Amino acid sequence: MTEHTVEFVSTGETITVAETETILSRCLEEGIAQEYSCRVGMCLACSAEIVEGEVTQPAARGFSEREAEEYALTCMARPLSDLKLDRGKYPPSIEPETGQPAPADD
Ligand code: FES
Repeated sequence: MTEHTVEFVSTGETITVAETETILSRCLEEGIAQEYSCRVGMCLACSAEIVEGEVTQPAARGFSEREAEEYALTCMARPLSDLKLDRGKYPPSIEPETGQPAPADD
């Protein structure tokens, strides 16, 4: 079983996550205060910016393809390398308070 180190840059917390498990599930086991709600890749509550590293998250339906390269839905994302994540960060197109798309600029 291949495992990777996942560091949360805002707190310095570090956990080890297997490629076969989601980052969120490991956070919950380790007592990391990662926000979440739906756990099925739709609400975006568990979003984190990928500062360094690579994940696979084919079921992260809440993100566009481009957003999924820069952000992880930790309830869906599994590590493919060691990672540095910034929790609570959302793509610019998302209003963090509501989890809804931001209004278009006119
Ligand atoms: S908890 Fe809803 S998208 Fe991850």
